[in-house]
Amino acid sequence: MELSNYYAPTKIVFGKEAEKQTGELVRTCGCRKVLVHYGGGSVKKSGLLDRIFAALGDAGVAYVSLGGVVPNPRLSLVYEGIELCRREGVDFILAVGGGSVIDSAKAIGYGLANEGDVWDYYDRKRTAEACLPIGVVLTIAAAGSEMSDSSVITKDEGGIKRGYSSNYCRPKFAVMNPELTMTLPWYQTESGCVDIMMHTMERYLNQSENMELTDGFSEHLIRTVMKHAKILLEHPEDYASRAEVMWAGSLSHNGLTGFGTDGGDWATHQLEHELGGMYDVAHGAGLAAVWGSWARYVLDARPKRFAQFAVQVMEVEDTGDDRKTAEKGIEAMEAFYRSIQMPTSMKELGIEPTEEEIRELARKCSFDRTRTIGRVKKLDVEDIYRIYMQAR
Ligand code: NZQ
Ligand code: ZN
Repeated sequence: MELSNYYAPTKIVFGKEAEKQTGELVRTCGCRKVLVHYGGGSVKKSGLLDRIFAALGDAGVAYVSLGGVVPNPRLSLVYEGIELCRREGVDFILAVGGGSVIDSAKAIGYGLANEGDVWDYYDRKRTAEACLPIGVVLTIAAAGSEMSDSSVITKDEGGIKRGYSSNYCRPKFAVMNPELTMTLPWYQTESGCVDIMMHTMERYLNQSENMELTDGFSEHLIRTVMKHAKILLEHPEDYASRAEVMWAGSLSHNGLTGFGTDGGDWATHQLEHELGGMYDVAHGAGLAAVWGSWARYVLDARPKRFAQFAVQVMEVEDTGDDRKTAEKGIEAMEAFYRSIQMPTSMKELGIEPTEEEIRELARKCSFDRTRTIGRVKKLDVEDIYRIYMQAR
């Protein structure tokens, strides 16, 4: 077991009608004026936004609003949000939406609480020293941003998607009503399930000796999400399945399933972020499209761990040969992705990059050849290129 810390300061209000408590939750944070931040319109259509405005009004909380956050949220709107908040004297940001809205809110929060250009943090030029307090009303189970220390923003020019992590941005509270996710298109539901599974798989497939308890949580979490992802494909209004997936989404990315590990691999996420930046694909679907190619490429660096994954998570038979068992596990996971209509290649994801574009993706992913990615096996620009080529 590695030296570890666990910090999950977000208050969770979970269940039917939870959003009714939003006004009081914001009020008890002691703010003067709130920015209600939201996406492209689903919260207007469902009536949720009006209910949130009413809850804030009932609690006597003043607010302004800014919509228009797109999936793979853009830096340009973050700048707009920072200006609006400065003008209006906003001191609290309420994100009503999914990972994209929450991440945009976190970036605005960094921009307001620190001097200088907020992109510097994502560009790894500086580190933030504060963030405005953030609250969340979650509408999609996926990114886990409602409890995570991370935010991911795309710079409009050049489609550069970069993440930045610090404890300052962890939300003060998250309101989670599983019913709110019932209006999701099936593709977003399933893409979200993949992302949730991947947040634990990234931590589980590592180079450390894990705690039995952490492994047990992780294996069960992934299996639970797999079970309910299948149910939701047929029965999108199944409340119990929505609840299982939603809670798994938070626990998968709040540090619980990485406790005692070396922090995990995260190469699949880095590979996907470039796809999201350049081709604007849904994050979870992008992860599914490259995971199998990554797994086969790095398998020999850790066959025992992949074999454990195959047996404990994918429930394949132990062949007695770690490599063979591990390969069966990877095949089984790809079969699962197909069963929930998620892609296992870029072509199935709907993109067909040329070889030149693959070179470009690899160059960007290696930060212009200045970094390697991954822990199971450290991957340089050539490795990254080969994995992308295999994933075509
Ligand atoms: O914009 P609207 O109209 O709201 O539509 C959204 C969007 O098109 C829609 N949607 C959300 N809730 C809905 C709904 N439609 C109907 N009913 C609802 N209840 O779903 C679409 C996707 O929303 P988005 O917020 O983009 O989804 P997700 O939560 O998957 O977030 C993805 C972003 O989070 C980043 C990803 O890279 C990506 O940019 N990530 C953030 C992380 C973090 N901060 O910790 C970790 C993740 O690994 C991930 O990288
Ligand atoms: Zn993710």
